Amino acid sequence: MSASVTVRVPAKVNVQLAVGAARPDGFHDLANVFLAVGLYDEVTVTPSPDGLRVTCDGPDAGQVPLDRTNLAARAAEALAARYGRTPDVHLHIAKDIPVAGGMAGGSADGAAALLACDALWGTHASREELLDICAELGSDVPFSLVGGAALGTGRGEKLRPLDVGGVFHWVFAMAERGLSTPAVFREFDRLGEGTDIPEPVASQPLLDALAKGDPDALAAAVSNDLQPAALSLFPELAGTLAAGRAAGALTALVSGSGPTTAFLARDPESAVKVAETLRSSGTCRAVRTASGPAQGATVLSAQNRHGIST
Ligand code: C5P
Repeated sequence: MSASVTVRVPAKVNVQLAVGAARPDGFHDLANVFLAVGLYDEVTVTPSPDGLRVTCDGPDAGQVPLDRTNLAARAAEALAARYGRTPDVHLHIAKDIPVAGGMAGGSADGAAALLACDALWGTHASREELLDICAELGSDVPFSLVGGAALGTGRGEKLRPLDVGGVFHWVFAMAERGLSTPAVFREFDRLGEGTDIPEPVASQPLLDALAKGDPDALAAAVSNDLQPAALSLFPELAGTLAAGRAAGALTALVSGSGPTTAFLARDPESAVKVAETLRSSGTCRAVRTASGPAQGATVLSAQNRHGIST
């Protein structure tokens, strides 16, 4: 059996986020087109005789909860409960995905911890079982496991993989503070009060643009129904979006529930240019480039108790 397993897991951007009316359970039906992008967290799991514990390092580590509310801890507990064992592991998160940023960083850590514990414990859960646990943990967690590109329906957890015919080049601007996903959905409800909210449906031109790998067509088709709500709670994001557009991005949008803003570039060179301009614009905290699609949660390495890679 291994004594340590490391899993790498990507962030996501939603190239379409169509949101329906609030359901009786408080969630919203979605047509959610996820694209995994190459900004990664790594979760390393090792046995811990003192019981479950979580540590984290990285620029945003101070904002990551280290208690049982962390999705990585909840993933370990959920898998352990299914297999009648104790979740006696140390989960270390090397965090590069922005925290509370609308890029599924917490969900990513949940999916990574699940895969890592499965490998460490040799539980050999089936893909379906892992996806079931992911869906219990949160709406975005199944996609973090799967990666690539996918259409999420229901509350986002029912996935259909999508073909992507090329690499898309993105720039991401991290904001000065986070936004709470439930708060953004509540603001969506408030802004929509008294209006007729249509059923969410995936955009065919958008799916075609992904399949062709055509950045101009994708730029013309992206949409995010949560963007007005995110902007209402965080009006300064409008300045970041405008700065990226002015710098030559093909399109600019809020990523998921925000506040990270996403800018699509035609090629890697123009992504670097947009990133440089955004960095000097004074409208954001940090800027990163990343391309997608990226592979879902992946076991990077497993070491036995003697520290030898297996
Ligand atoms: O599923 P997850 O725990 O990540 O969702 C966080 C919150 O986002 C939910 O509690 C809910 O307020 C909101 N949400 C929603 N509809 C969805 C997904 C999330 O209202 N489809």
